Amino acid sequence: MNTELLMCDAENFRVDYVINPYMDTGRQPDPVAALAEHETIAKTHLAAGRTVRFMKSAPECPDMVYTANGALVGGGRAVLGDPPGPRRPEIPYFRTWLTAHGFDVHDAPYPFSGQGDALVCGPLLLAGHGRRTDRRMHAVLADLFGYEVVPLRTASEQWYDLDLAVGVIDERTLAHCPQALTADSVHRLRDLGLDLVEVPVEEAASFALNLVSDGTTVTMTTGAPRFAAELRERGKDVIELDTTELRKGGGGVRCTALTLDNPAPAGPGTHTTERDRP
Ligand code: ARG
Repeated sequence: MNTELLMCDAENFRVDYVINPYMDTGRQPDPVAALAEHETIAKTHLAAGRTVRFMKSAPECPDMVYTANGALVGGGRAVLGDPPGPRRPEIPYFRTWLTAHGFDVHDAPYPFSGQGDALVCGPLLLAGHGRRTDRRMHAVLADLFGYEVVPLRTASEQWYDLDLAVGVIDERTLAHCPQALTADSVHRLRDLGLDLVEVPVEEAASFALNLVSDGTTVTMTTGAPRFAAELRERGKDVIELDTTELRKGGGGVRCTALTLDNPAPAGPGTHTTERDRP
């Protein structure tokens, strides 16, 4: 899992507008430091044996470095994101890139935060709703990809995308911050029968869960020593990287990498757990 990733460059990374609680147009990323930080993340993926594909950022798209929101990709298919207004100009670039690289590309009929709200874990799709993703997207994703959708809601706008509150470590292990999710969503995660790692809220607040794991190596941010130690105890190779600049836009390691190799489950038409509930 997560062995083929799509990244942009950080050339045009700025804070031009405010669409999440971390952004402040008076606190701009340092351009040189941001490029270095982003390049280190890309090199670290390569060193872990992952393939990284690159797409050029557009000057009018200051958030394009966060490729995770561009789409959800799995089994050769892609559903484009439908982000908040200021980020909409990014979507045609993602459409062009994904189409040119042979993916079967679909539009999102409702607001959708792409992979930011849609994390694949084996046959499951952990899917956020109620912030940047309309709940009606869940049935669309279940039908197009065939994953079993697990609907989850974060506790507040601080966790505006699910990938700030939940991290997939391997097919049987999920990391999450209970305070970042509603009580119902925590119960839903506990019901899955997977191994759950709890991340303290102060570490989650520094983007600790916004990580990329291929099951062996976990690439994450610095500033979460307890979580990093727990992952090492579980036998993972953990690489902690500085994400000071990316944080100014409200993102971390996971946000900068759109996974291209999510496996397709058995077949389309799988029911969501939502529909199974009365
Ligand atoms: N500034 C970006 C936004 O608010 C950050 C996106 C981070 N991406 C993520 N997957 N959490 O859209």
